[in-house]
Amino acid sequence: MSDSAQYLVVGGDSLVGGYVFDTLKSKGLKALSTTRRVDTAGPDRIVFDFEYEATFAVPKSICCAFVVAAATDYNRCEVDPNAYRINVELIPRAVLSLIEQGVFVVYISTNSVFGGDQSWPSEYARHSPGIAYAKQKSQSEVAIAAMANEAGYAECYNVVRLTKILDATTPPLPSWIASWRNGNIVTPFSDLIFAPMSPHFVSNALVKLGEKRISGNFHLSGSENVSYVDLAYALAEKIGISRSLIESTTATEKGVHIAFKPRYSGIGMDRTTKLCGIQPQSLSSVIDDIF
Ligand SMILES: NC(=O)c1ccc[n+]([C@@H]2O[C@H](COP(=O)([O-])OP(=O)(O)OC[C@H]3O[C@@H](n4cnc5c(N)ncnc54)[C@H](OP(=O)(O)O)[C@@H]3O)[C@@H](O)[C@H]2O)c1
Repeated sequence: MSDSAQYLVVGGDSLVGGYVFDTLKSKGLKALSTTRRVDTAGPDRIVFDFEYEATFAVPKSICCAFVVAAATDYNRCEVDPNAYRINVELIPRAVLSLIEQGVFVVYISTNSVFGGDQSWPSEYARHSPGIAYAKQKSQSEVAIAAMANEAGYAECYNVVRLTKILDATTPPLPSWIASWRNGNIVTPFSDLIFAPMSPHFVSNALVKLGEKRISGNFHLSGSENVSYVDLAYALAEKIGISRSLIESTTATEKGVHIAFKPRYSGIGMDRTTKLCGIQPQSLSSVIDDIF
């Protein structure tokens, strides 16, 4: 284990954690990450599982930890009591343990804590979660705040809520690309709204927030609420595909159950922009990053 690392990514195998770790390294910053995959452990990869460690001892050189790992599967959160335990009990406990060791924690949360009925909720808007995953992330935020405030550590962490991250492997992108390559039509949903961001944007913004270490709530969001039809048109334009290969439909029409179907997905970034200079990401910038 490296003793000189400054940053720790808890959840290095996650989509977000992997990009944050790579971004830290590419900026020449010293970083470690955690993994549950014992066979992949090494000097920069510490084995850590919230379920098995009561306290989480980290090297003294760590000054900031990104707590990214979580039980993220929507269906699992609905049915598995262990997902609740991980998200609402074990993760807040690990966050407190890190803070007690003098580490500033950047805790990653989600726009879904707002439930999807508020337009551009601010960093201090009230939670209104619907699905189990969102309720657990909301309760996790509340538990961290209660523990940290009671112990006098309110200034030692922040919460960064994210909207959906889109990369070239995110469904349905690979199947759209394959269909277009074969000259086939794709049928995106017009009733599924999101405010996507690219991994490049998110990981750079998170590293900036980790460097600044300002407490309180922050938001990272796409700048527009767009439907999957909007996304398909923007992608097609970028890669030179005819619009005739896009046929708009709806999840309702197709009988597809979508667990989280917000009316609004984007979240307000006023405080984040004011304190850190980070602006919401436009759809065209997301697409430029992906391709
Ligand atoms: N992806 C998005 O679009 C998005 C949007 C909004 C918010 N977020 C938030 O961003 C964070 C990361 O999301 P993600 O999509 O990158 O996650 P992800 O790819 O689903 O990965 C979740 C990670 O958590 C780890 N994990 C689960 N249970 C664990 C435990 N008991 N101990 C240690 N590690 C455990 C998993 O380890 P294994 O790899 O070993 O299974 C996995 O690497 C989450 O907090 C999520 O709420 C993500």
